[in-house]
Amino acid sequence: MPSPSYDSWINGLPQWHGLTRISPERAYAHAEDQYDAQYGVSAAEPEEGQGLVRLLQREQVDVTGPALEIGCGTGRLTYGLAHYYPGSDFLITDPSPTFLRITASQFPAGPVGPAQLQFALLNADDLGKLPPEMFSLIAMRSTLHHILQVDEFIAACARTLRPGGALAMGAEPLESGYVLMAAVAQSILPTLKSAGVTINPAWETQLTNFTDTVKFYCRRDLVKVAAEDKHLFTIHDLSDLGHRHGLRLQYFPNATYADFAPDGTPEFESFSVFFLTYLKYCMQFDEELLKHIRRHMQPQLKFIDECHRSHAGPAITGVFLFHKAGAAA
Ligand SMILES: C[S@@+](CC[C@H](N)C(=O)[O-])C[C@H]1O[C@@H](n2cnc3c(N)ncnc32)[C@H](O)[C@@H]1O
Repeated sequence: MPSPSYDSWINGLPQWHGLTRISPERAYAHAEDQYDAQYGVSAAEPEEGQGLVRLLQREQVDVTGPALEIGCGTGRLTYGLAHYYPGSDFLITDPSPTFLRITASQFPAGPVGPAQLQFALLNADDLGKLPPEMFSLIAMRSTLHHILQVDEFIAACARTLRPGGALAMGAEPLESGYVLMAAVAQSILPTLKSAGVTINPAWETQLTNFTDTVKFYCRRDLVKVAAEDKHLFTIHDLSDLGHRHGLRLQYFPNATYADFAPDGTPEFESFSVFFLTYLKYCMQFDEELLKHIRRHMQPQLKFIDECHRSHAGPAITGVFLFHKAGAAA
């Protein structure tokens, strides 16, 4: 059966409190209005979305059809995509109505870029409900690791992408880099103790919480339905998964979308900078502990940085671009 047009599909979906509803609403596990403050970012900057559009154009992805963003959160990627995506439509989605409203509030009434914007409640588990070959772009930032059934999700993405389109993912956590961070973290307390530092019991809790969290993400034999963050990935698993569903993976090590914006300089400086930033913002380590880590863990951190002096490593995150082959001529 041929796919309906985007307009007839979207206009036929039910409404819920002013939002299009593809899935039932579901709140995020943490306070949505504090999300940007926790990560020390400002959502309303164009570089992430602008960089992604430039990367897609450079890699000759067909960007003429509608775009879909999954897990928009507070709009860190959305804002630039809304301004620069050259196709006709941009469907911005999240399961959380609060996140959708925060993101929608960044845009004035009326057009902001070439694409018409629409907002919908969508859980990635329901991607199979989308019509086949509807979207030229599926874009995500820091969302894949929240999705329970990654294999089914990639299969559904492959189905709803148009030939010549792409699935783009950024800021996903990779097993190699995260396990290395946790291994380094395991030696922090013994190192501080042997340097004569008085240990605050709260630091032990922060460190155990971090290493236990990494172990939980890494394990594949645990039930993760109730956890908000679920997985770490390997590049070869993602590549195999894409291949199985007809998608070719291009991986940009430790890159962010913003790196591809005009004047973008690589955000990733080194393992040690990433590690300390992650502990500060994502794990909320206190400043005193971070100060001791910078001082007493310097030999270990310097060693890892020097191993990667001439290339962006260890693989800890990056941009993942899955291409769907174009229609045969
Ligand atoms: C870490 S936040 C990232 C938000 C935003 N993309 C950013 O880069 O700041 C993860 C986002 O994924 C959404 N999310 C979680 N589980 C999801 C699922 N099963 N389907 C779709 N989105 C989901 C959350 O509501 C949240 O907005």
